[in-house]
Amino acid sequence: MQTALTDSTEIAADFLNSGGVVAFPTETVYGLGAGICHPEAISKVFRAKGRPGDNPLIVHIYCLEQLADVAAEINSDARLLIERFFPGPLTLVLKKNPCVPDSVTAGLETVGVRCPANPVAQEFLSRCSCPVAAPSANLSGLPSATSWESVYEDLNGKIDCVLRGKPSTIGLESTIVECSGSVPILLRAGAITLEQLQAVLPEIRVNAVTDEREAPKSPGLKYPHYAPKASILFYNANETVAIGPSSAYIGLSDPPEGVSLFRICLNLEEFGRELFRFFRYCDAQCIKVIYCELPADTGLGRAIRDRLLRASGRH
Ligand code: TXA
Ligand code: MG
Repeated sequence: MQTALTDSTEIAADFLNSGGVVAFPTETVYGLGAGICHPEAISKVFRAKGRPGDNPLIVHIYCLEQLADVAAEINSDARLLIERFFPGPLTLVLKKNPCVPDSVTAGLETVGVRCPANPVAQEFLSRCSCPVAAPSANLSGLPSATSWESVYEDLNGKIDCVLRGKPSTIGLESTIVECSGSVPILLRAGAITLEQLQAVLPEIRVNAVTDEREAPKSPGLKYPHYAPKASILFYNANETVAIGPSSAYIGLSDPPEGVSLFRICLNLEEFGRELFRFFRYCDAQCIKVIYCELPADTGLGRAIRDRLLRASGRH
């Protein structure tokens, strides 16, 4: 299949509206979109990514009026979060509208809904004739794509079109909050922090998958994620480590002596934005080990920590 590259939201939406699969930019990471009214295109998204069919997709909307096409019920917790954080890097899990096909929600009674703030995403979604189901636009298991070039690297020849935008400004996938039950639950940490959520919903709980036999609340959490080919090891600036050849480092502190390449980030925002791009760059440079500084478990540090732990296979 020929994968078209375009800067035009109109051309990209034409592909999607005629049943195609289109990658598009958002402020978190690039998404791989299919219209929820195009079942064949939804299957193609799963095939192109190599994604297991039991891992549901997030549905993207461009305005609040579209919410009713996707969700059947919006409780008071959800309303408060929508007022405060939509559009933006937040996905809400809500009771689904029966119009949303089972292939999108992997048979669940709930659906993840997000309204991205990125203006190119908004313009593209507004030209699409139905809400757009979209996982991150990367091969399953690999780090999410934060630039159109990374999307193209993974999916060229497997999808219909890539809408070229700027690199994602956040670089980490959206915060996911389940709002379909009696208590809101943080399922995935992201740029909307737990502290920000607690300011709106003090009773929010954090999902802890404590028992292996217990089905995870978010099906995707059980799969290996975000992993570069290189091994991930954690580095604490107070320790001395013996660095082997072909090693790299990313973090806020100075790098350990002896690494062949490193990225020192000025703050957590930059760390989050650069992380997946750095993983991909290290793979391209045949780096064997990436030493990563684990930030503290507060603010944006929680999301970065989560991705690092998953990438290292410890989560
Ligand atoms: O920032 C993002 O969220 C990006 C952009 C493209 O919007 N999307 C993204 O999608 O990260 P994906 O498919 O890579 O991750 C979505 C996660 C998966 O872990 C999936 O299991 C979970 O959301 N999810 C989707 N629908 C759900 C539902 N109804 N209940 C619980 N978890 C759900
Ligand atoms: Mg993903």
